[in-house]
Amino acid sequence: MKIHILTLFPGAFDSFLSHSIVKRAIEKRVVEVSVHNLRDFTHDRHRTCDDRPFGGGPGMLLKPEPIYEAVEKLFPQTPRAARGKKRFIYLTPQGKRFDQKKALELSREKELVILCGHYEGVDERVIEEFVTDEVSIGDYVLTGGEPAAMVVTDAVVRLLKGALGNDASKEFESFSGNLLEYPQYTRPAVFRGRKVPPVLLSGNHRAIESWKKTQAARRTKKRRPDLLKKKEKSRAPRD
Ligand code: ADE
Repeated sequence: MKIHILTLFPGAFDSFLSHSIVKRAIEKRVVEVSVHNLRDFTHDRHRTCDDRPFGGGPGMLLKPEPIYEAVEKLFPQTPRAARGKKRFIYLTPQGKRFDQKKALELSREKELVILCGHYEGVDERVIEEFVTDEVSIGDYVLTGGEPAAMVVTDAVVRLLKGALGNDASKEFESFSGNLLEYPQYTRPAVFRGRKVPPVLLSGNHRAIESWKKTQAARRTKKRRPDLLKKKEKSRAPRD
């Protein structure tokens, strides 16, 4: 997969791209990530990327020109980024909430373009022309789309074949079962007076599986009852 990130702060991605699973996935050529500075597509001395909104209102907007130029440079044969064909994600609190299902859907694409929002947003014409998905990572407002772009990239990359030692999409299935994970323990069996639940040391695989199921259900009921409702819905017969 190829991921293009369009941002005013390319340096924000340095550490993210040079650590852990994402770094390894890049080294193994499972994914190629290019970070593009929108200011490189300006022509004035101040490398201006923002301007005041027509009709007034607070704050500034991302101007359309640098974004159009960036897209035209990235995809010269398909200057309109083959709208509708190439996935073009705009990160904004106005977007649809990102979840594991969306991560899986995006992980099946060959190429993604991710635009990090800033200021009060972006000129609407950019959205009309290029954007296929407006995505929010949650109901809170960040100072910019960069942390959100990292969240989306991370969640997508770990699902790519070869990114993890094991197959992450299997794990997705357990999440799509709409249950949280049961509690897990490693050695030592007793640590500072706290004991691992004896069933996990029993060697009784049936009892262990049953314990895990009960714990997952209990935890989900307590923390995320909304997931249990989803689960019931997905089990109900379709009419
Ligand atoms: N930019 C600012 N806040 C955001 C959010 N919650 N999700 C995605 N992009 C954002």
